[in-house]
Amino acid sequence: MTDDRGPLAHRFPTGFRFGAATAAYQIEGGHDADGKGPSIWDTFCRRPGAIATGETGDVACDHYHRWSGDVALMRALGLDAYRFSISWPRVLPRGAGAPNEAGLAFYERLVDELLANGIRPFVTLYHWDLPQALQDAGGWASPSVVTAFGTFADLVARRLGDRVSDWMTLNEPEVVAYAGHAAGVHAPGIRDFATAVTVSHHLLLAHRAGADAIRAAAPAARVGIALNLSPCEPATESAADVEAARRMDGSLNRWFLDPLFGRGYPADIVALYAPYFDRAPELDAYDGRLDFLGVNYYTRRLVRAAADGPLRADRVEPEGAERTAIGWEVHPDSFRALLVRLHRNYGPEQLYVTENGAAYDDVVANDRVDDPERVSFLARHLGAAADAIAAGVPLRGYFVWTLMDNFEWAHGTSKRFGLVHTDYPTQRRRVKSSGEWYRDLIAAQRAAPAWTAAR
Ligand code: FCB
Repeated sequence: MTDDRGPLAHRFPTGFRFGAATAAYQIEGGHDADGKGPSIWDTFCRRPGAIATGETGDVACDHYHRWSGDVALMRALGLDAYRFSISWPRVLPRGAGAPNEAGLAFYERLVDELLANGIRPFVTLYHWDLPQALQDAGGWASPSVVTAFGTFADLVARRLGDRVSDWMTLNEPEVVAYAGHAAGVHAPGIRDFATAVTVSHHLLLAHRAGADAIRAAAPAARVGIALNLSPCEPATESAADVEAARRMDGSLNRWFLDPLFGRGYPADIVALYAPYFDRAPELDAYDGRLDFLGVNYYTRRLVRAAADGPLRADRVEPEGAERTAIGWEVHPDSFRALLVRLHRNYGPEQLYVTENGAAYDDVVANDRVDDPERVSFLARHLGAAADAIAAGVPLRGYFVWTLMDNFEWAHGTSKRFGLVHTDYPTQRRRVKSSGEWYRDLIAAQRAAPAWTAAR
């Protein structure tokens, strides 16, 4: 294996955190264990045709029962930090009301084990598994979800806030709103653009309700949010494509970033969405008050003008591009450009890359999983992150998506993103060569002499 780990490690400042990320529904299984209530993903997976492989996350990686071994695996990789999410219906089976003690105890044990192994927990409150009981009451389309989210945040922060400092309220509100409520390819599988816009508004309000609750329960907490962000570039230089790219950027990126940084909704997108609401959503001096911005980056978007659709913009797949096994173009320079843009345009105090990674068709051969494409993907994206740091971006950490192969939403277990291979029938985990590479990179960074800006 080419050894760029030493030089790469030297490009990150002392204290930079190297971690891995997961999400509750994708790894836990234990879908009805110990009093857990159903989530919208439990329901959605049972809808014929919703999941490409016909699977559910009922078992997934069985992490609910294997958490201790999984933390040992993280330690063997030398992770500094671990980002995971709390299953809302595991701690509040009906979304509100009486908490489930066994569910809370599960997360307490996990946090204690992480801390005992020197791994810093980064907790996401909502990574897509809304309690079904709340969906039955209107879900994210109903304003009552905002208060419910605040109550959930309060419960978890009171329980874990003495041990957890780093919090994210929501994962990828844009995906929750549009994949879940406009495209209908994610739970709850609704197809209505106007509903999706309403949902995006309630998600932003829920972020604030959650952040306030966390800070009230744990005053030293640092609160962020994880957004899916992609540069949107015009497919040609035509004015029509340039404007289409701007609209897509507005919908995907600015619709969330502008409010979170206290600027209200972007006026061009409010105008574009006007046909979808009677009265424009109002944010009343809203500010996300972020201690850090979490960035989930996988690919860029190339955009061309289209005759119809709410955005009148279509994604174009560039010909001959390098792609991962899920079809996403590999484009590390857009990652660097994105981080620099966020720093220059919004000036967050700190940034974390809360997800970055790639799916490949990994196979076990001679008891090993060699995944040189993933090593190359990670090395190039970490290089881009280091370039962004050299350009002044206050990036403090990077989480690989994902620790171990898991239930990849509508793709089921057919897409493997892990540093660790999961053999689903036996639940055996095997560290891939990318996991070994990442382990050695982290070790090289720990051994590196104090970083100076000149490096
Ligand atoms: C992100 C999700 C994460 C995972 C990756 C591949 O959008 O946050 O759960 O599915 O994509």
